[in-house]
Amino acid sequence: MPDPILDRERLAEALRLIAREAEDFLANVDEALVRPSGAPEFDGGMPKRGVGSLKALAELVAAADVGATRSTGPRFFHFVMGGVTPAALGADWLTSTLNQSAYNWVSSPLASRIEQVTLGWLKELFGIPAGWSAVMTSAATTANLVGLDSARRWWGLEHGVDVDERGLAGLPEVPVFGSGYLHASAVKALGVLGLGRTRPQTFARDDGAMDAAALERALRGLGGAPALVVATAGDVNTGGFDPIREIAALTRRHRAWLHVDGAFGLYAAVTPATRRLVDGIAEADSVAVDGHKWLNAPYDTGFAFVRDAGIHAGGFSASAAYLGTEVLARPVFGNLAPEMSRRARAIPVWATLRAYGLDGYRDMIERHLGLAQRVARQVDDAPDLERLADVPLNVVCFRYRPDGVDESELDELNRKLGAMVLEDGRVYFGTTEHRGKLCFRPAIVNWRTTEKDVDLIVEVVRELGSRLVIRAPGR
Ligand SMILES: Cc1ncc(COP(=O)(O)O)c(C=O)c1O
Repeated sequence: MPDPILDRERLAEALRLIAREAEDFLANVDEALVRPSGAPEFDGGMPKRGVGSLKALAELVAAADVGATRSTGPRFFHFVMGGVTPAALGADWLTSTLNQSAYNWVSSPLASRIEQVTLGWLKELFGIPAGWSAVMTSAATTANLVGLDSARRWWGLEHGVDVDERGLAGLPEVPVFGSGYLHASAVKALGVLGLGRTRPQTFARDDGAMDAAALERALRGLGGAPALVVATAGDVNTGGFDPIREIAALTRRHRAWLHVDGAFGLYAAVTPATRRLVDGIAEADSVAVDGHKWLNAPYDTGFAFVRDAGIHAGGFSASAAYLGTEVLARPVFGNLAPEMSRRARAIPVWATLRAYGLDGYRDMIERHLGLAQRVARQVDDAPDLERLADVPLNVVCFRYRPDGVDESELDELNRKLGAMVLEDGRVYFGTTEHRGKLCFRPAIVNWRTTEKDVDLIVEVVRELGSRLVIRAPGR
């Protein structure tokens, strides 16, 4: 098969093959082990003569069968990974079919308009003022990058310097403050932006949330010099929240930019049950949220929101004669984020919001909140489990702690148990460290997840844990 044009007649069959396989995969995903026991094989060097679409696709399907985690299924509680709703999946297929580049109106009126409309809906969903600038990104990591890039630009301008034109040379170090919840992706963004991964100074209360009094002392100590503050709405280990309104009042008073990382926690705004957790979000300067977490949009999708449209645009503008110019009513999304050529991520996001609406998302999130409380209760009722944090949202932080095991052995016991849980595959979540203790942190965000799925969390940990303790030498 030397030239793709010779494969044209097989296109319809290739699509049918994938549709059949996808249907089969998804029909089994509710019951399948989260990680199949096998490893995908991709042998051989760069093929000289291709095998054609049907054979290549069949090879991929076979590799996925043994090598793909069922992360789109209901028992993948690791990291914070959503599934893909039916509407989002259908729309994502369409996105690849249309293959639009969401740079601007000229590259695709569809992609341009749908991104504008969808970002407006998302602002409503999250309680972000309609006038803010916004853009879709590949993830919360890139959304953090966009927000912190705007923060950096603002900080430079406060010093009378356009840092996007001139760079940071000759300027003082940028003061950056965060809480114990500061996420690795925000730290990464600070590194990429040349501000330094080690810049952030953190002020944490015992639970990890921002110590606002310490932050105020630090801001006051700057004597009026501008600073950056990163607050987190939804800590990855516990689902905990920084007090956004209180922090916003401080950043306003002390000439600081407030960036809020709300990767999954911003979805607390969707239901009155948890909306108070993000109280004050409209007072921030920039906000990052993920789409492939609680929205259950496909990978990879994130959203960045910036209060000051001029600052936002200044950080990513690029011009070249062939790119042309745009009228103001049509944002050039490719000049509001790192990528210029971009997938039309708004298509599946629009579809899922259109399909399920505010009510559907509120119902799903409330269901997940209830499931998290159910797991928390089961942990509390189990004599050999210990919950390590409150459960304000959808993450349950706990560890295995059977009688007769010394505190000094618990980290190692839970580390081994975590590896066994991943290997077992009935449920899937890794370990983390919270307040110096090794523990689990299943996160519930998948639209498919039900009571029967979450009930396995405690059941599997206790079953595997008891095997581990019985097997341990000397016990
Ligand atoms: C608070 C927070 N911020 C940022 C991220 C990064 O998200 P992503 O990996 O989708 O870029 C995560 C991921 O779990 C997160 O929990």
